[in-house]
Order: sequence, then structure tokens, then C-alpha cells
Amino acid sequence: MIETVTELARLRELVTGWKRQGLRVALVPTMGNLHAGHFSLVMLARQYADRVVSSVFVNPTQFGPNEDFARYPRTPEADMRGLQDAGCDVLWLPSVETMYPLGTELAMRMHAPGVSDVLEGACRPGHFDGVCTVVARLFNQAQPDVAAFGKKDYQQLAVIRQMVSDLAFPIEILGGGIVREQDGLAMSSRNQYLSAEERPVASEIRKVLVALRDACLAGTARASAEAVATAQLEAAGFQVDYAVVRTPALTEPDDAYAGPRVALVAAKLGRTRLIDNLEF
Ligand code: PAJ
Repeated sequence: MIETVTELARLRELVTGWKRQGLRVALVPTMGNLHAGHFSLVMLARQYADRVVSSVFVNPTQFGPNEDFARYPRTPEADMRGLQDAGCDVLWLPSVETMYPLGTELAMRMHAPGVSDVLEGACRPGHFDGVCTVVARLFNQAQPDVAAFGKKDYQQLAVIRQMVSDLAFPIEILGGGIVREQDGLAMSSRNQYLSAEERPVASEIRKVLVALRDACLAGTARASAEAVATAQLEAAGFQVDYAVVRTPALTEPDDAYAGPRVALVAAKLGRTRLIDNLEF
């Protein structure tokens, strides 16, 4: 049976007990409204640990003032059942007061320079500060040996890896593959904001990423491949924040660069902002 924990003292008691028995502990941080993408991370974490803790916390510090914090979907009952079926041992469900005892204004803030400042960080100022601020707290609360994050949020994974290495958190970070709907749309809690007319259009993002990858692999110059991708998304009705090709460290590869790359898109369809990426 999964145990839902809302008190930090109880979480510590459980984790300390497991560690005393020599068990490895994994953490899978989430904001809830869980889907198969989240559950795949729980299953991945299980392969590297004896006990899995998943947190569900809609973190106010990573949302901008005009973003969807208030309307972000909250489905605690379904989340608990899904986590249980995926093999999670503990659902860590802290209140805002438990996460931010001094309140969000006085809370210690984190910032990972460089990797946080481009792409998503440029479009959503302060977003990754909020992510690092909450993930550092979750790490200290759950004291995991390993933690799993999805490649769906490719830049978030890079930011977390930088924080873990820079601050010497003794935690192994796992990156889980992107889980998609049948038509290719990356699963996301925000997909349910899409109207019936928008939903089929949303799967264009994946097609544009595949075309962008193929163009780069065929030798098209990066700038023109990116311009074509942007135009394709705009023609489908998106407002494009970026459609780009980067190195795994999210720097701009020059045309002589021959190493691994990643194509990344962020675009709005109506009021819904979607992100996706494709490694190659
Ligand atoms: P959330 O959006 O709930 O995502 C939780 C984790 O699930 C993240 O690591 C995310 O990359 C992963 N994920 C989401 N959709 C996925 C998909 N389709 N396939 C694979 N993995 C997927 O990301 C956050 O929450 C927050 O920023 C958090 C890290 C919890 C900090 O508040």
C-alpha cells in the first residue's frame, strides 16, 4: 500500500528507517495531475532503488505572475491511485507552509547561471530559479540516493544536473524518455487546456521537430532549418517562442559541429503553451 505523507517528520522517519536497512531511496518530483509520462519515471526510479517517493507539489515559485498557477489541474485522488499502481511507496504531499516555512517571499532562492538563462529561462524569467528552489528543498526533505526527471523538460534536466554537480548533492540524476500520445503529442498536464479544435493541431510540434532534425542531418544550415520550422509552426496556427537546434549543453552549435544535438520547440496554441524536443 502506498502511504500518503504530509508531515516532514514522518517522511524523515520512513527514509531514515529504510536507510538504516541499507535500502536505496529514489525521488520522483512532480506537480501532480499525473499521466503515463510521470508513471514511467516511477518505474525507471524503481530499477535504481528499493523504495520510491513521489512528491506532488504545485510549486508557486516557478510560475510567473501571468501564468497558470491558480488553474493548474489538481487531481490528488487519481494521482495517489496511479502512483500506487506504478509501484510508488510514498506520496509526499507537502503544504505550501511545509515547503516554504518562511513564506515564498523570504524563502532562500536558488539560481543556476548560464543554462537557466536561455530558451525557457529567457521566455519565463525566474522559472528555473523556482524549480531549483523547490527541488533543492525536496532533495533535503527526502534525502534520495537517486532522483528521476523527464527529458520532456530537457532544459530543466540540464539545470538540475548543473545544480546537483555544483552543490555536490550526493544524488544520481536519471533522465527518462519522453512518453507521447499516439499521434506524437508529448504527454503533459497542460494538454487538457487544449480545445477540441486545437488538440489535433498540437501534434504538429512533433512533426516539425522530426523535419527539423532531418534537415540538419541532411546538411541544411542550422539557421535556415530553424527558420523553416518556425514558419511551419506559424502556418499551423502557433505563436512560436523558439524552434531551435542546440548542443546537449544548450549552446549554439556552429555549422562545423558534428556531435549530438537536440531540437527544441516552445510554442503557444491559443492560451496553451507547449514544449517538446527531439535528440539526435
Ligand atoms: P511536472 O510537470 O509535473 O513533471 C514532473 C516530471 O515528469 C518532470 O521531470 C517532467 O520532465 C516529467 N514529465 C512530464 N511529462 C513527461 C512526458 N511526457 N514524458 C516523460 N516525462 C515527463 O517538471 C515539473 O513537474 C516541476 O518543474 C518539478 C520538477 C516537479 C519541480 O516543481
